[in-house]
Amino acid sequence: MRFSSFLQPLARWSGRAGLALAGLALLPGCKFYDIWRMDGHQSTLVVDGPVARSQRDLFYVTCWVTLVIFILVGAVLAYATWKFKARNAADEHAEPPEQGHGNPLVEMGLIAGSVLALVIIAYPTLTSLWYTYDVPTEEKKDAYEITATGYQWWFKFEYPHEQINGAGALTASNELVIPAGRAVRVNLRTVDVIHSFWIPKLAGKVDMIPNRANFLWLKADQPGYFWGQCAEYCGDSHAVMRFRVVALGPKEFNEWLDSQLQGARSVAVKTAAAGQAKAQFAALRTFKTNEAGVTDKFEVAPLEAWRAKQFPEKNEDGALIAQGKALFTSKTCMACHTIRGHGAVGVTAPDLTHLGSRTTIAAGLLENNREQLQRWIHNPAAVKPGNKMAKGYIDNKISLTPEDEAALVAYLESLK
Ligand code: CUA
Repeated sequence: MRFSSFLQPLARWSGRAGLALAGLALLPGCKFYDIWRMDGHQSTLVVDGPVARSQRDLFYVTCWVTLVIFILVGAVLAYATWKFKARNAADEHAEPPEQGHGNPLVEMGLIAGSVLALVIIAYPTLTSLWYTYDVPTEEKKDAYEITATGYQWWFKFEYPHEQINGAGALTASNELVIPAGRAVRVNLRTVDVIHSFWIPKLAGKVDMIPNRANFLWLKADQPGYFWGQCAEYCGDSHAVMRFRVVALGPKEFNEWLDSQLQGARSVAVKTAAAGQAKAQFAALRTFKTNEAGVTDKFEVAPLEAWRAKQFPEKNEDGALIAQGKALFTSKTCMACHTIRGHGAVGVTAPDLTHLGSRTTIAAGLLENNREQLQRWIHNPAAVKPGNKMAKGYIDNKISLTPEDEAALVAYLESLK
């Protein structure tokens, strides 16, 4: 009897300790340093824009109010537990003390306290709701408009005020370039299921709902590079439905627009580097299914990495690129993708006109480099389960030889 009464709490506590240890064991996977600083790529606590700042401040108010309540209630509970506990065998069998039937002062106090807590939380909540809902009136005139559309599992970004002769609005995919220091109003659409648009350091999250014209606004304090994520479960590859946001100063933003409005780049077939690239491709390794991507391992600051991407590679192999361009048509890639100026006008998949100038591929999942591009086109299903490109390979009986892959990658890389 004695022994088991000793064992029971021990079992209970060892269970809790086990859970705590399991939690600790998971921590290294979350990069302990980032947790400590609260400054990961998708931090909502260290933010870079007024909308996210308003959301964060509201979170803090709620946290502080609930912390005060927790401490008060916890203190009263601890006091009562200690004060009224059984102190000896006689206490254990004693009648319960005389029960009270309400204390008007305590009850009124509790009601007043609750109302006060609600008001303290409600005021900043409403203020924040109004502020984050739409672009403030004084900034409306200068606001920039973009339409973001969710697809399973990638994002399309259209610039309705940047029209291309005869080809509609400028369209980009998976990397949203915005003007820094300026309010941006984002129209949120979807072509299939519900997605949710979220850039933790800037703003969010608002759902993209079929047949409903949602929107949000955001602003980046200064030029920067930000991580975005679909925040509503939307199928197999929801967790890897990501995107990036690049905020640029006014001059650089206009330069970017000018370059994007151009059609796809063409490379002369005769270049000095012929043959070199093919040898490099032969040396690429193969990836395991579900092997992690390397999107976050930029060798320089991410914005600098993005800037470097805007220029063509030095040793382009014109002949290989031409071969890739022909394959893009013959392997039916052009049925789904657009490459403006190169005859590809598909609209069900990301626009690739300037693919080479993006830092990531596969919806912000993989770094945009030769190795990852080859990995992606070699077996898209292994990277992003359930995606339409993988199905397209099967439906259209597409098979690529290593040489085909090298040529396609060289072509895609050349699309600056
Ligand atoms: Cu789209 Cu989750």
